[in-house]
Amino acid sequence: MSDITSRTSNDPLTDRVSHPGYPRSNGYDARWTIDNQMGPHALWLLEWLAPALGLDTLSPGSRVLDLGCGRAMTSVFLAREYDVQVTAADLWVKPDENAGRIAEAGVADRVLPVLAEAHDLPFGANSFDTIVSIDSYQYFGTDDLYLPHLTRLLKPGGRIGVVVPALREEIDGVEPPEHLKPYWEPDFWCFHTAAWWRRHWTRSGAVEVETADWLEDGWRDWLRWCEVVAEEHTDEWHVRMASQCAEMLRLDRGETLGFVRVVGRRL
Ligand SMILES: C[S@@+](CC[C@H](N)C(=O)[O-])C[C@H]1O[C@@H](n2cnc3c(N)ncnc32)[C@H](O)[C@@H]1O
Repeated sequence: MSDITSRTSNDPLTDRVSHPGYPRSNGYDARWTIDNQMGPHALWLLEWLAPALGLDTLSPGSRVLDLGCGRAMTSVFLAREYDVQVTAADLWVKPDENAGRIAEAGVADRVLPVLAEAHDLPFGANSFDTIVSIDSYQYFGTDDLYLPHLTRLLKPGGRIGVVVPALREEIDGVEPPEHLKPYWEPDFWCFHTAAWWRRHWTRSGAVEVETADWLEDGWRDWLRWCEVVAEEHTDEWHVRMASQCAEMLRLDRGETLGFVRVVGRRL
């Protein structure tokens, strides 16, 4: 078992993936983050979300739902960095697979992997102090009725924080910008602006929105990460996906695509 927090000094890959803005993420093995990625760098995005969500203020043992955790890197990070009890919920990646990764990371006592569909979560009301969702919420959370359904799982006053791929400006009409047409997937229509998310959550009446903002130059980090994955991933499909994504981001140069974080406090 390799220690995911042991950085190899003078390792060019580790140096390449180091980010001055995300010191905690820099402590994780670069190869581990590449092998388990499912899109943008999940630990960087979580580290950007952390201060807005108040992760540092959580007491040890607080209960955190990591919704759409994928390969559970963010769940491992939450347990190791904040000493919280994490429920690592995902649909596509099965709990048996995540259990192995969680145990290897040494946090089997603090992270419980579960199979969960976001509309049918097997938890009772008031179960969690905090809900986190990185690069997942856009798949189910644009539904007007969804947020109240989810936030009933939060203890009163608990916070939900998400980071999603997003738009700098909403797109009028039914066509994507010309330069993005070759890359545009129907799924991309679930990307929205910070203002859209703020209004969407505020209108739900479920939370007070504390933060809804755009990551300045987020596209540069996204591009850098896609380039690393395209060069370093061992699986052909991931290499192709990351290469296409890098090509799209190089053309767009942050004109359209980036990231938004949204934090709400349960009313
Ligand atoms: C792009 S991956 C991101 C995974 C991880 N958060 C990360 O950043 O590496 C999106 C994840 O959302 C999850 N997801 C999508 N739709 C879902 C749903 N309806 N219920 C639960 N999870 C869902 C998928 O299982 C997938 O792992």
